[in-house]
Amino acid sequence: MKKKILVSRLYPNAGIRLLEKEGFRLTMWEKENPMTQVELIEQAKSHHALLCTLTDRIDRHFLDDCSHLEIISQFAVGYDNIDIASATRLGIPVGFTPDAMSEATADITFGLMIAVARKMFFLHKTIINGRWGYFTPTGNLGFELKNKTLGVFGLGRIGIKMAQRCKNAYNMDIIYHNRTRNKAAEKLLGATYVELDDLLAQSDVLSVHCALTPETKEIFNCSAFKKMKPSAIFINTARGPIHHEKDLTRAVLAGDIWGAGLDVTNPEPMQPDNPLLFMENVCVLPHVGSGTIEARNQMSVLAAMNIIEFYRNRQVPHIVNPEVLES
Ligand code: GLV
Repeated sequence: MKKKILVSRLYPNAGIRLLEKEGFRLTMWEKENPMTQVELIEQAKSHHALLCTLTDRIDRHFLDDCSHLEIISQFAVGYDNIDIASATRLGIPVGFTPDAMSEATADITFGLMIAVARKMFFLHKTIINGRWGYFTPTGNLGFELKNKTLGVFGLGRIGIKMAQRCKNAYNMDIIYHNRTRNKAAEKLLGATYVELDDLLAQSDVLSVHCALTPETKEIFNCSAFKKMKPSAIFINTARGPIHHEKDLTRAVLAGDIWGAGLDVTNPEPMQPDNPLLFMENVCVLPHVGSGTIEARNQMSVLAAMNIIEFYRNRQVPHIVNPEVLES
């Protein structure tokens, strides 16, 4: 019998075609909005495998109800929407799609950095609102990034690409803080490992590229922002809950930091009346870091191959919990 796969959103064709060619029976949720958890459970009950993404809540409750699932393949590099411990307890392998979006996300991060330094989103709004006015020799001033210091919180695949862009374009010094030192990246970038307090104190631009875990949740809060330079830019293109959004708002308003660039917010979606959207030195995007044709196609291929290889060879090329296949 051909396996039935629940496809939780409209994913790029590249991966879907691979699954169809392999002969799987696919049920696609074609609406723009994600399924509610009740709908997701209801649908998943009659399927062998699930292709899902960060908008699907795969928590303990879901997993206990759908413990029959043979594999879960996540279309994303982050998987904080999935209770990995429960999936592992139930013996369900969880695939993900690392690296496919590293270039795209580093581009969005780099773009936000420049946009904040030059108040781009705010200035764009002044035109829309009929407030262009005159050329003002002393107004609308941003700052230059040349020779500044980039602090990377989480120097992994995406952080390295952001650091390379900053080094090549602006000769920026690279400092970083990780759970464990990344000696290869230190050599590649001439990066220096520093403690978190030093990262906060020394960065002109502090860019977040770590996973959301209980340890990183709201690590960028009032006390962290107070340790940063008043001239610093905070950028988060990883996961919204890594920063405390009210504390960030207060920090920008109080001048504890210069400004912020966010591709992720806490919560998502951000409400249209959020004060951050109206601040001169803040630029916000609606979680589009991986949003290039190239990245999304490649993510769909990796997510499909995780399912295909599992059923062909009991291997998942990109797996979060390899221990379930070892037992
Ligand atoms: C996007 O946010 C991802 O985790 O891939």
